[in-house]
Amino acid sequence: MVFPEYRPRRLRKNSAFRALIRETELSPAQFVYPLFVIPGKNKREEISSMPGVFRVTVDQLEKEGKDCLELGVNSVILFGIPETKDGVGSGAHAKNGIIQTAIRELKRKVPKLLVITDVCLCEYTDHGHCGCLIGDTVDNDSTLEILAKTALSHAEAGADMVAPSDMMDGRVAEIRAVLDENNFESIPIMSYSVKYASAFYGPFRDAADCTPQFGDRRSYQMDPANSREALREATLDVDEGADILIVKPAVAYLDIISRLRDEFDLPIAAYHVSGEYAMIKAAAQNGWIDGDKVMEETLLSIKRAGADIIITYFAKDMARILKNR
Ligand code: PBG
Repeated sequence: MVFPEYRPRRLRKNSAFRALIRETELSPAQFVYPLFVIPGKNKREEISSMPGVFRVTVDQLEKEGKDCLELGVNSVILFGIPETKDGVGSGAHAKNGIIQTAIRELKRKVPKLLVITDVCLCEYTDHGHCGCLIGDTVDNDSTLEILAKTALSHAEAGADMVAPSDMMDGRVAEIRAVLDENNFESIPIMSYSVKYASAFYGPFRDAADCTPQFGDRRSYQMDPANSREALREATLDVDEGADILIVKPAVAYLDIISRLRDEFDLPIAAYHVSGEYAMIKAAAQNGWIDGDKVMEETLLSIKRAGADIIITYFAKDMARILKNR
Protein backbone atom coordinates (compact mmCIF):
# COMPACT_ATOMS: atom_id res chain seq x y z
CA MET A 1 0.00 0.00 0.00
CA VAL A 2 1.36 3.38 -0.99
CA PHE A 3 0.22 6.97 -0.94
CA PRO A 4 -2.56 8.02 -1.43
CA GLU A 5 -4.09 4.70 -0.21
CA TYR A 6 -1.82 4.65 2.78
CA ARG A 7 -1.54 7.84 4.79
CA PRO A 8 0.45 7.47 8.02
CA ARG A 9 -0.92 10.82 9.19
CA ARG A 10 -4.39 9.22 9.68
CA LEU A 11 -3.17 7.70 12.93
CA ARG A 12 -1.42 10.85 14.12
CA LYS A 13 -4.54 12.98 13.92
CA ASN A 14 -5.13 13.52 17.63
CA SER A 15 -3.72 12.51 20.96
CA ALA A 16 -6.10 9.57 21.42
CA PHE A 17 -4.94 8.03 18.13
CA ARG A 18 -1.34 8.69 19.00
CA ALA A 19 -1.74 7.06 22.39
CA LEU A 20 -3.60 4.13 20.85
CA ILE A 21 -0.68 3.11 18.68
CA ARG A 22 2.19 4.15 20.96
CA GLU A 23 4.81 1.40 21.01
CA THR A 24 6.86 2.42 24.02
CA GLU A 25 5.90 3.66 27.49
CA LEU A 26 8.00 4.95 30.34
CA SER A 27 7.23 3.44 33.69
CA PRO A 28 8.62 4.86 36.96
CA ALA A 29 8.63 1.32 38.38
CA GLN A 30 11.39 0.55 35.88
CA PHE A 31 13.53 3.54 36.82
CA VAL A 32 16.40 3.21 39.28
CA TYR A 33 17.43 6.38 41.08
CA PRO A 34 21.12 6.73 42.09
CA LEU A 35 21.84 8.01 45.60
CA PHE A 36 25.23 9.30 46.79
CA VAL A 37 25.87 8.84 50.49
CA ILE A 38 28.47 10.87 52.39
CA PRO A 39 29.74 10.71 55.98
CA GLY A 40 28.50 13.17 58.59
CA LYS A 41 25.11 14.39 59.74
CA ASN A 42 22.33 16.48 58.34
CA LYS A 43 24.02 17.34 55.04
CA ARG A 44 22.59 17.70 51.54
CA GLU A 45 25.20 19.00 49.09
CA GLU A 46 24.28 19.70 45.50
CA ILE A 47 26.80 18.30 43.01
CA SER A 48 27.96 21.28 40.97
CA SER A 49 28.25 19.40 37.68
CA MET A 50 24.90 17.65 38.25
CA PRO A 51 22.32 20.31 39.10
CA GLY A 52 19.41 18.83 41.05
CA VAL A 53 21.43 15.82 42.30
CA PHE A 54 22.63 15.78 45.91
CA ARG A 55 25.11 13.94 48.08
CA VAL A 56 23.38 13.20 51.36
CA THR A 57 24.19 11.87 54.80
CA VAL A 58 22.62 8.68 56.13
CA ASP A 59 20.01 10.55 58.21
CA GLN A 60 18.60 12.07 54.98
CA LEU A 61 18.02 8.72 53.31
CA GLU A 62 14.60 8.08 54.77
CA LYS A 63 13.27 11.21 53.10
CA GLU A 64 15.04 10.41 49.83
CA GLY A 65 13.62 6.88 49.82
CA LYS A 66 10.09 8.00 50.66
CA ASP A 67 10.19 10.68 47.94
CA CYS A 68 11.06 7.99 45.41
CA LEU A 69 8.34 5.60 46.52
CA GLU A 70 5.74 8.35 46.45
CA LEU A 71 6.56 8.96 42.80
CA GLY A 72 6.41 5.26 41.95
CA VAL A 73 10.18 4.94 41.69
CA ASN A 74 10.64 1.75 43.71
CA SER A 75 14.36 1.23 43.28
CA VAL A 76 17.54 3.07 44.19
CA ILE A 77 21.20 2.29 43.59
CA LEU A 78 23.63 3.37 46.28
CA PHE A 79 27.09 4.89 45.94
CA GLY A 80 29.19 5.61 49.00
CA ILE A 81 31.88 8.18 49.67
CA PRO A 82 33.88 6.86 52.65
CA GLU A 83 35.63 8.88 55.35
CA THR A 84 39.03 7.37 54.51
CA LYS A 85 40.49 5.46 51.59
CA ASP A 86 43.39 3.01 51.30
CA GLY A 87 45.29 0.99 48.69
CA VAL A 88 42.93 -2.00 48.73
CA GLY A 89 39.57 -0.31 49.26
CA SER A 90 38.94 -1.83 52.71
CA GLY A 91 36.10 0.62 53.30
CA ALA A 92 34.10 -1.10 50.57
CA HIS A 93 33.43 -4.16 52.74
CA ALA A 94 33.63 -2.66 56.25
CA LYS A 95 30.78 -3.91 58.42
CA ASN A 96 29.95 -0.37 59.47
CA GLY A 97 31.08 1.24 56.24
CA ILE A 98 29.13 4.06 54.63
CA ILE A 99 27.12 1.81 52.29
CA GLN A 100 26.45 -0.92 54.83
CA THR A 101 25.11 1.75 57.21
CA ALA A 102 23.06 3.32 54.43
CA ILE A 103 21.52 -0.03 53.45
CA ARG A 104 20.49 -0.80 57.04
CA GLU A 105 18.97 2.66 57.43
CA LEU A 106 16.96 2.42 54.21
CA LYS A 107 15.77 -1.12 54.84
CA ARG A 108 14.70 -0.15 58.36
CA LYS A 109 12.98 3.14 57.49
CA VAL A 110 11.68 2.45 53.97
CA PRO A 111 11.41 -1.34 53.79
CA LYS A 112 9.43 -1.37 50.53
CA LEU A 113 12.19 0.36 48.61
CA LEU A 114 14.36 -1.96 46.50
CA VAL A 115 17.94 -1.24 47.51
CA ILE A 116 20.56 -2.02 44.88
CA THR A 117 24.24 -1.49 45.57
CA ASP A 118 27.08 -0.63 43.22
CA VAL A 119 29.92 -3.07 43.89
CA CYS A 120 33.23 -1.43 43.03
CA LEU A 121 36.40 -0.31 44.77
CA CYS A 122 37.12 3.00 43.03
CA GLU A 123 35.34 5.13 45.64
CA TYR A 124 37.32 3.35 48.38
CA THR A 125 40.87 3.18 46.98
CA ASP A 126 43.30 6.06 47.47
CA HIS A 127 44.53 5.59 43.87
CA GLY A 128 40.97 5.72 42.50
CA HIS A 129 41.17 2.52 40.43
CA CYS A 130 38.44 -0.12 40.54
CA GLY A 131 40.77 -2.87 41.81
CA CYS A 132 44.00 -3.59 43.71
CA LEU A 133 47.31 -2.65 42.18
CA ILE A 134 50.43 -4.65 41.53
CA GLY A 135 52.85 -1.93 40.50
CA ASP A 136 50.86 0.23 38.13
CA THR A 137 48.61 -2.59 36.97
CA VAL A 138 45.11 -3.21 38.26
CA ASP A 139 45.38 -6.87 39.26
CA ASN A 140 42.36 -8.89 38.23
CA ASP A 141 42.44 -12.03 40.34
CA SER A 142 43.38 -10.53 43.71
CA THR A 143 40.59 -7.98 43.24
CA LEU A 144 37.92 -10.67 42.82
CA GLU A 145 38.07 -11.77 46.45
CA ILE A 146 37.61 -8.19 47.69
CA LEU A 147 34.71 -7.58 45.33
CA ALA A 148 32.98 -10.75 46.51
CA LYS A 149 33.56 -9.74 50.12
CA THR A 150 32.06 -6.35 49.32
CA ALA A 151 28.98 -7.85 47.68
CA LEU A 152 28.56 -10.20 50.65
CA SER A 153 28.78 -7.30 53.12
CA HIS A 154 26.02 -5.53 51.16
CA ALA A 155 23.81 -8.62 51.24
CA GLU A 156 24.44 -9.04 54.96
CA ALA A 157 23.40 -5.44 55.54
CA GLY A 158 20.14 -6.15 53.71
CA ALA A 159 20.68 -5.14 50.08
CA ASP A 160 18.08 -6.53 47.68
CA MET A 161 20.43 -6.79 44.69
CA VAL A 162 24.13 -6.18 43.96
CA ALA A 163 25.52 -4.53 40.84
CA PRO A 164 29.24 -5.10 40.15
CA SER A 165 30.63 -2.20 38.10
CA ASP A 166 34.37 -2.85 38.30
CA MET A 167 34.77 -4.75 34.99
CA MET A 168 37.21 -7.34 36.37
CA ASP A 169 37.05 -10.67 34.52
CA GLY A 170 35.23 -13.42 36.39
CA ARG A 171 33.69 -11.27 39.09
CA VAL A 172 30.11 -12.35 38.52
CA ALA A 173 31.02 -16.02 39.08
CA GLU A 174 33.06 -15.16 42.18
CA ILE A 175 30.30 -13.00 43.68
CA ARG A 176 27.64 -15.61 42.87
CA ALA A 177 29.68 -18.34 44.56
CA VAL A 178 30.33 -16.33 47.72
CA LEU A 179 26.70 -15.20 47.99
CA ASP A 180 25.51 -18.78 47.55
CA GLU A 181 27.97 -20.17 50.13
CA ASN A 182 26.52 -17.71 52.63
CA ASN A 183 22.88 -18.50 51.98
CA PHE A 184 22.22 -15.48 49.79
CA GLU A 185 21.29 -17.59 46.76
CA SER A 186 18.13 -15.50 46.38
CA ILE A 187 19.97 -12.18 45.94
CA PRO A 188 20.20 -11.35 42.22
CA ILE A 189 23.22 -9.88 40.43
CA MET A 190 22.63 -7.00 38.05
CA SER A 191 25.96 -6.91 36.25
CA TYR A 192 27.49 -3.94 34.48
CA SER A 193 28.26 -6.40 31.68
CA VAL A 194 29.00 -3.84 29.03
CA LYS A 195 30.67 -0.82 30.54
CA TYR A 196 32.64 1.43 28.27
CA ALA A 197 35.68 3.54 29.18
CA SER A 198 33.65 6.69 28.74
CA ALA A 199 34.22 10.39 29.18
CA PHE A 200 30.52 10.65 30.05
CA TYR A 201 31.37 9.59 33.63
CA GLY A 202 33.10 12.91 34.34
CA PRO A 203 30.51 14.47 36.68
CA PHE A 204 30.09 11.16 38.58
CA ARG A 205 33.78 11.15 39.39
CA ASP A 206 33.36 14.58 41.00
CA ALA A 207 30.30 13.33 42.85
CA ALA A 208 31.86 10.10 44.08
CA ASP A 209 35.37 11.46 44.38
CA CYS A 210 36.85 8.57 42.39
CA THR A 211 38.97 9.96 39.57
CA PRO A 212 41.98 7.66 38.99
CA GLN A 213 45.11 9.27 40.41
CA PHE A 214 47.17 7.99 37.48
CA GLY A 215 46.35 6.55 34.08
CA ASP A 216 42.80 5.70 33.09
CA ARG A 217 40.36 2.79 33.14
CA ARG A 218 40.96 1.56 29.60
CA SER A 219 42.68 -1.66 30.72
CA TYR A 220 39.43 -2.87 32.26
CA GLN A 221 36.52 -0.88 30.83
CA MET A 222 35.58 -1.45 27.19
CA ASP A 223 36.80 0.38 24.11
CA PRO A 224 33.97 2.61 22.76
CA ALA A 225 34.83 1.40 19.26
CA ASN A 226 33.71 -2.17 19.97
CA SER A 227 30.34 -3.80 19.60
CA ARG A 228 30.99 -7.54 19.04
CA GLU A 229 33.05 -7.49 22.22
CA ALA A 230 29.92 -6.37 24.07
CA LEU A 231 28.26 -9.65 23.10
CA ARG A 232 31.24 -11.60 24.41
CA GLU A 233 31.16 -9.72 27.72
CA ALA A 234 27.42 -10.27 28.08
CA THR A 235 27.74 -13.99 27.22
CA LEU A 236 30.37 -14.42 29.93
CA ASP A 237 28.18 -12.72 32.53
CA VAL A 238 25.17 -14.81 31.58
CA ASP A 239 27.25 -17.99 31.90
CA GLU A 240 28.61 -16.80 35.25
CA GLY A 241 25.11 -16.30 36.63
CA ALA A 242 24.11 -12.68 36.04
CA ASP A 243 20.38 -12.01 36.38
CA ILE A 244 20.22 -8.61 34.67
CA LEU A 245 22.64 -7.11 32.13
CA ILE A 246 23.59 -3.42 32.19
CA VAL A 247 24.80 -1.36 29.25
CA LYS A 248 26.56 1.86 30.20
CA PRO A 249 26.48 4.68 29.10
CA ALA A 250 23.10 4.64 27.35
CA VAL A 251 22.53 7.16 24.58
CA ALA A 252 25.89 6.91 22.83
CA TYR A 253 25.43 3.11 22.95
CA LEU A 254 21.83 2.58 21.85
CA ASP A 255 23.06 0.21 19.16
CA ILE A 256 24.60 -1.96 21.89
CA ILE A 257 21.36 -2.01 23.89
CA SER A 258 19.53 -3.04 20.76
CA ARG A 259 22.04 -5.80 19.94
CA LEU A 260 21.88 -7.21 23.45
CA ARG A 261 18.09 -7.11 23.32
CA ASP A 262 18.17 -9.23 20.17
CA GLU A 263 20.73 -11.71 21.47
CA PHE A 264 19.73 -12.27 25.11
CA ASP A 265 16.50 -12.93 26.91
CA LEU A 266 17.55 -11.58 30.32
CA PRO A 267 16.25 -8.20 31.46
CA ILE A 268 18.43 -5.36 30.21
CA ALA A 269 19.18 -2.18 32.10
CA ALA A 270 20.70 0.95 30.62
CA TYR A 271 22.62 3.44 32.73
CA HIS A 272 21.93 6.98 31.56
CA VAL A 273 25.08 8.34 33.16
CA SER A 274 26.15 11.56 34.83
CA GLY A 275 27.57 13.28 31.73
CA GLU A 276 24.46 12.48 29.72
CA TYR A 277 22.37 14.04 32.47
CA ALA A 278 24.67 17.05 32.87
CA MET A 279 24.60 17.92 29.17
CA ILE A 280 20.81 18.08 29.09
CA LYS A 281 20.70 20.10 32.31
CA ALA A 282 23.31 22.57 31.11
CA ALA A 283 21.67 23.17 27.74
CA ALA A 284 18.28 23.56 29.43
CA GLN A 285 19.65 26.04 31.96
CA ASN A 286 21.01 28.09 29.09
CA GLY A 287 17.58 28.11 27.47
CA TRP A 288 18.95 26.27 24.44
CA ILE A 289 16.62 23.28 24.68
CA ASP A 290 13.40 22.39 26.49
CA GLY A 291 14.91 20.26 29.26
CA ASP A 292 11.77 18.30 30.15
CA LYS A 293 11.02 17.39 26.56
CA VAL A 294 14.59 16.38 25.80
CA MET A 295 14.64 14.31 28.99
CA GLU A 296 11.54 12.40 27.96
CA GLU A 297 12.66 11.91 24.38
CA THR A 298 16.02 10.63 25.63
CA LEU A 299 14.51 8.16 28.09
CA LEU A 300 12.07 6.96 25.42
CA SER A 301 14.95 6.36 23.01
CA ILE A 302 16.59 4.12 25.61
CA LYS A 303 13.39 2.13 26.05
CA ARG A 304 12.81 1.94 22.33
CA ALA A 305 16.31 0.55 21.84
CA GLY A 306 15.31 -2.34 24.09
CA ALA A 307 16.13 -1.53 27.71
CA ASP A 308 13.65 -2.70 30.33
CA ILE A 309 15.20 -0.79 33.20
CA ILE A 310 16.72 2.71 33.14
CA ILE A 311 19.13 3.82 35.83
CA THR A 312 18.84 7.59 35.69
CA TYR A 313 19.29 10.81 37.65
CA PHE A 314 16.08 11.92 35.92
CA ALA A 315 14.02 9.16 37.60
CA LYS A 316 12.15 11.48 39.96
CA ASP A 317 11.76 14.35 37.47
CA MET A 318 10.34 12.06 34.82
CA ALA A 319 8.11 10.24 37.29
CA ARG A 320 6.70 13.55 38.50
CA ILE A 321 5.79 14.58 34.96
CA LEU A 322 4.15 11.21 34.27
CA LYS A 323 2.20 11.42 37.52
CA ASN A 324 0.83 14.88 36.75
CA ARG A 325 -0.11 14.06 33.17
C1 PBG B 1 32.13 2.95 39.62
C2 PBG B 1 31.09 3.61 38.80
C3 PBG B 1 31.20 4.68 37.90
C4 PBG B 1 29.90 4.98 37.48
C5 PBG B 1 29.05 4.07 38.08
N1 PBG B 1 29.80 3.21 38.87
C6 PBG B 1 32.37 5.49 37.51
C7 PBG B 1 33.46 4.93 36.68
O1 PBG B 1 33.47 3.76 36.32
O2 PBG B 1 34.35 5.71 36.42
C8 PBG B 1 29.50 6.10 36.56
C9 PBG B 1 28.10 6.57 36.68
C10 PBG B 1 27.81 7.88 36.05
O3 PBG B 1 28.64 8.50 35.37
O4 PBG B 1 26.69 8.35 36.25
N2 PBG B 1 33.06 2.21 38.94
